[in-house]
Amino acid sequence: MLHGDIERILFDAETIDRRIRALGREIAQDFAGEDLVMLALLKGSVIFLADLMREIDRPLEIEFAIASSYGASTKSSGQVALQAFPKQDWRDRCVLVVDDILDSGRTLAAVTKRLQEDCQPKRIKTCVLLDKEAPRAAELSPSYAGFRVEDVFVVGYGLDYAGRYRNLPYIGVLKEECWQGKAPT
Ligand code: IMP
Ligand code: MG
Repeated sequence: MLHGDIERILFDAETIDRRIRALGREIAQDFAGEDLVMLALLKGSVIFLADLMREIDRPLEIEFAIASSYGASTKSSGQVALQAFPKQDWRDRCVLVVDDILDSGRTLAAVTKRLQEDCQPKRIKTCVLLDKEAPRAAELSPSYAGFRVEDVFVVGYGLDYAGRYRNLPYIGVLKEECWQGKAPT
C-alpha cells in the first residue's frame, strides 16, 4: 500500500507548491547578481530541488552529494557519511545547500564543514523544506525553511521510510503498523 499507509497528511501538494513559490522568489532576490550553485543532498531532496529551482528566476547551476546517516533506516544515527562530494574551487560562487529536512542538524553541519574545507565558497546558505522541532545535536538553523514540523517521522515528497514513500505528492505521518517493528526514533 502507498496512500493507505498514511495516518494523516501534514502538508498537501497545493500547500507545498505555494510555499515553494514564495521560497523561490525570496532566494532569487537574495542571490541577485551572484553566481549561484545549488548543492542538493541525495536522495531526499530531489523532488524539492526540482520544484524549487524552477521557482528561482536567476541563472544557477546544480550539483549533488550523497549524505547518509549510518546504521539506521530512520533518522540520525550519529555519524554522517558523505559520498561523491564535489571537489571544486567555488571561491567566487555562492552555494545554497538543499536538503529535505533538518532534524538533529548533523547532516547540514557535516556538509557545510566539508564544503568550507573542500570548495571554500564565497557564501554558504542552507535551505530545507522541513525544519523539525527536534533536539539539535549541532547548533544550527537553516537560512531558508519551507515549514516547521512537529517532532514526528514524516514521509512523502522525497522523504522516505526504508527507501519507500518518496513518490507521495504530499507529506504525511506513517501509520504505526507500517514501521515493521522498527519504529522511527
Ligand atoms: P539530521 O542529520 O539529523 O538533521 O537528519 C537529516 C536527515 O535525516 C534528512 O536528510 C533525512 O534523510 C533524515 N530524516 C530526519 N527526519 C526524517 C523524517 O521525519 N522522515 C524522513 N527522513 C528523515
Ligand atoms: Mg536525507
